[in-house]
Amino acid sequence: MSDIILESQSLTRRFGGLVAVNNVSFSVSKNEIFGLIGPNGAGKTTLFNLITGLIAPSEGKLIYQGTVISQKKTHEIASLGIARTFQNIRLFGELSALENVIIARHLHTKSGIFTGVFGIPPAPKEELQSKQKALELLELVGLHERAYESAKNFAYGDQRRLEIARALALEPEVLLLDEPAAGMNPSEKQQLSNFIKQIRDTFNLTVILIEHHVPLVMGLCSRIAVLNFGQLIALDKPNIVRNNPAVIEAYLGNE
Ligand SMILES: Nc1ncnc2c1ncn2[C@@H]1O[C@H](COP(=O)(O)OP(=O)(O)OP(=O)(O)O)[C@@H](O)[C@H]1O
Ligand SMILES: [Mg+2]
Repeated sequence: MSDIILESQSLTRRFGGLVAVNNVSFSVSKNEIFGLIGPNGAGKTTLFNLITGLIAPSEGKLIYQGTVISQKKTHEIASLGIARTFQNIRLFGELSALENVIIARHLHTKSGIFTGVFGIPPAPKEELQSKQKALELLELVGLHERAYESAKNFAYGDQRRLEIARALALEPEVLLLDEPAAGMNPSEKQQLSNFIKQIRDTFNLTVILIEHHVPLVMGLCSRIAVLNFGQLIALDKPNIVRNNPAVIEAYLGNE
C-alpha cells in the first residue's frame, strides 16, 4: 500500500513564452510537512494554482489519492479535500472573522455556499453547527476573542491565521500554505511553526508549505523541494538540500 497522497507527473505550465512550471515531478506522502522553496518567480504559487485547479496544466498531470485532478474545477478539488491559503490574502474584509470562516464551511454543509454568500438562511440546526465549528477554529488559531471584528481591522499576521482557519473549515486532508509567515515577527513565526505541527497532528493533515523564511522551512519540513525558473532542482531532506551546491547558488546563497 502506498502512502502517497499527491503526485505531480511532468507538470508543465506555460504563460505565453514563459515556462512558469517546467516538467515538475514529485510526490507527497500522507501526513508529511512538505516544503516548497525557491527564488521569487520560481513557480511556487503557480504550482499551488495548478494543484487547486485555479489554472490548468499545459502538460503533465496531478494525481490526488489515486484520482487525476488536473482537469477538475477548483470547487471539485476543494471538496475532494485540498484547501489553501493565498500569498495575497483573500478575505472578505468587511465581514467578521467568524463570517469569513462560516462562508468557507458552507462548502461543506448541505445548504451549500449560496446560503453564505447570498444570505439565503440555512436550516437553523446547521447554522448553529457551522457557527460552533467556526468558533472552535477561531479558538484554535487564537482569534476567538475577536470573532465579531471585521477582517480588515486585523494585523497582517492575524489575517494569515484567519486564512488558515478558513482553509481548515473545509476539513481538508491536504493543506497548502503560501507564505504563511510573511509579515509575521520572529516570535509569531515560531508560534506559527508550532501551530502548523499541531494542526497536522490534530487533523491528520498533509501540509505543503511555501515559505521564504529558511529556518522555519528547515525546522518544520520532512522534505523540501526547490524550484528555480520553473524547474525542480532539488528534492530531499532539509540537511541535504541545505548543502546542495545548486540550491545554494540559486537560492540559499542570497539569504
Ligand atoms: N497568470 C499569469 N500570467 C502570466 N504570467 C504569470 C502568471 N502567473 C505567474 N506568472 C509568471 O510565472 C512565474 C512564476 O510565478 P509564481 O508566482 O508562481 O512565482 P513564485 O515562485 O510564487 O514567486 P514569489 O516567491 O515571488 O511568490 C513568474 O515569472 C510570474 O510572472
Ligand atoms: Mg508566490
